[in-house]
Amino acid sequence: MSLGTVKHKADQAYITGLRREFHQYPELSGQEERTASRVCEELQKLGITDIRKQIAGHGVVAVFGGGAGPTVALRADMDALPIAEKTDVPFKSTRDGIMHACGHDSHTAMLLGAAKLLKEAEQHIPGKVVLIFQPAEENAPIGGARPMIEAGALEDPRPDAVFGLHVWPDLPVGQVGVKSGYLMGASDRFSIRIQGKGGHASMPHETVDAALVAVQIAQVLQTIVSRNVNPMEAGVITIGKIEAGSRYNVIADEAVMEGTVRSFHPDVRDLIEKRFAEVVEHVARSMGAQAEITYRRGYPVLNNDETAAGIVRSAVAEVLGAQALPQIEAALTAEDFAVYLEHFPGAFFWLGCGFEDKSKNFPLHHPAFLIDERVLPIGAELLAETALQFFNQKGSNV
Ligand code: NI
Repeated sequence: MSLGTVKHKADQAYITGLRREFHQYPELSGQEERTASRVCEELQKLGITDIRKQIAGHGVVAVFGGGAGPTVALRADMDALPIAEKTDVPFKSTRDGIMHACGHDSHTAMLLGAAKLLKEAEQHIPGKVVLIFQPAEENAPIGGARPMIEAGALEDPRPDAVFGLHVWPDLPVGQVGVKSGYLMGASDRFSIRIQGKGGHASMPHETVDAALVAVQIAQVLQTIVSRNVNPMEAGVITIGKIEAGSRYNVIADEAVMEGTVRSFHPDVRDLIEKRFAEVVEHVARSMGAQAEITYRRGYPVLNNDETAAGIVRSAVAEVLGAQALPQIEAALTAEDFAVYLEHFPGAFFWLGCGFEDKSKNFPLHHPAFLIDERVLPIGAELLAETALQFFNQKGSNV
């Protein structure tokens, strides 16, 4: 069965208007009340009646399509960041210190645009479409995906595949990054509190210098990746913060270190966590200090299903052409979408949103981050086409 293509049919004005509105009214993780209520209003206007609200906070799940065939889910995230916007667009954030600096405004608008396309094609849909508007993506390690799944939001109907995207400023508009297997990393977070013994700078023999212990720990931790992890595997330990001491002539009593661990392979994740505790405890003890470790696992590795990644590639080829699929390397940034992929097959892809004028491109989470809005109809068409390609491949035998 062929469902045709959605090529160049997305309603650009509709999606752009929504994106700008969401951008003006950003909401932090867990507080997406206005966004979720606007999403529900738009879904109703599209004629979608099965709308489930306030799932795990402000999550929304909408279901349509009448066929008895398989179910495909498409996911967008809705939350913004505690960042003060530094752009001069007319639709700049109206909320002090809050900004859509990760493009989730565009994700939500694009999924509504895809919903419009798919709803118009509903009579041709052999199964069901589930739209997931997820809260709290930025709220690692809890996130929004796991609470929504645990609330049963994806049980009836249960998706046979889940797809999602993220705008990606490193790729220009019109390019898409997708690969099967690992696309994004597992992200864990730690803090270490080192208890030494303070004293006068001139009398180190009567003290345990917590600052020196911290420096030693920082160095030895780097040997985990260089000496314990298989060099063919990826691992990163970054200490982003070290605090110790109060004055130039006082030996620090206490030091606090914070950082993050990134990995792809679960064995590497386990190995680093185990070695981390050994290194920190033993180095501290060898210098006469005590170390207290808090180590929290965050989002898991994002592992794209091979068939699902192929479905995304087919959709990209249909909407943009095969030249829109550059070879990409996985990245150790983390994404809550990975949690869906622990429960359902599916794929996540990076949607190029970079301006031709490269001076206008800033990284995700930057106060000047903006997308080239030409990406908006492309994203909507790709999400809709991905669903259609899914039905073409999975629905042909129903
Ligand atoms: Ni994001």
